[in-house]
Amino acid sequence: MLVKLAIYPGTFDPITNGHLDIVKRALKLFDRLIIAIGENPAKKPLFTLEERIFMINEAIKDLPERNLIEVDSFSGLLVDYAKRKGAIAIIRGLRAVSDFEYELQLALMNRKLSNSIDTVFLMPSLKWIFLSSSIIKEAAKFGGDVSDLVPPIVVQKLKEKFREME
Ligand code: COA
Repeated sequence: MLVKLAIYPGTFDPITNGHLDIVKRALKLFDRLIIAIGENPAKKPLFTLEERIFMINEAIKDLPERNLIEVDSFSGLLVDYAKRKGAIAIIRGLRAVSDFEYELQLALMNRKLSNSIDTVFLMPSLKWIFLSSSIIKEAAKFGGDVSDLVPPIVVQKLKEKFREME
């Protein structure tokens, strides 16, 4: 039987409850999921790749679907990575209309680069709709409480990171 594998790519700097919400939704549609940290040349991540992988692994460790999830990283084109892994779909979260234009552009470019992989957009729960990794970092940097928006490990690592930078 064909195992339906999807890739959930992103910068995950850091992972938030909104990302986890998408992970859970994706696993209702696909048999396996790879959460893949990719490079976005437009971004300068706060956390190293190793720190981001560690936080994701910690954040998913108690999910009942844990054994269906792999955490990985890639460089180069997303579609090349997806093909190498044998994925049939790319998962992206859509939070608001403002995401749509960029996501459509990305999805259509990915389709042009490889017609065999489709992008599937999933909407997170309303309570995460305003979340982004940047807004979390900004709030945490100035001492804001983000503990109901990100996994506990992320709260801890944000505190450590901003203490290091003081
Ligand atoms: N909950 C919370 N935040 C969410 C979210 C959700 N459900 N869905 C999206 N976001 C946020 C992210 O936190 C991120 O926030 P930030 O901008 O404040 O950091 C933002 O939405 C979108 O970023 P992200 O999902 O991390 O993706 P990205 O736009 O940085 O793209 C790659 C990352 C890796 C997918 C993309 O750069 C890529 O494919 N790179 C490889 C090269 C390539 O193939 N490019 C495409 C063809 S040219």
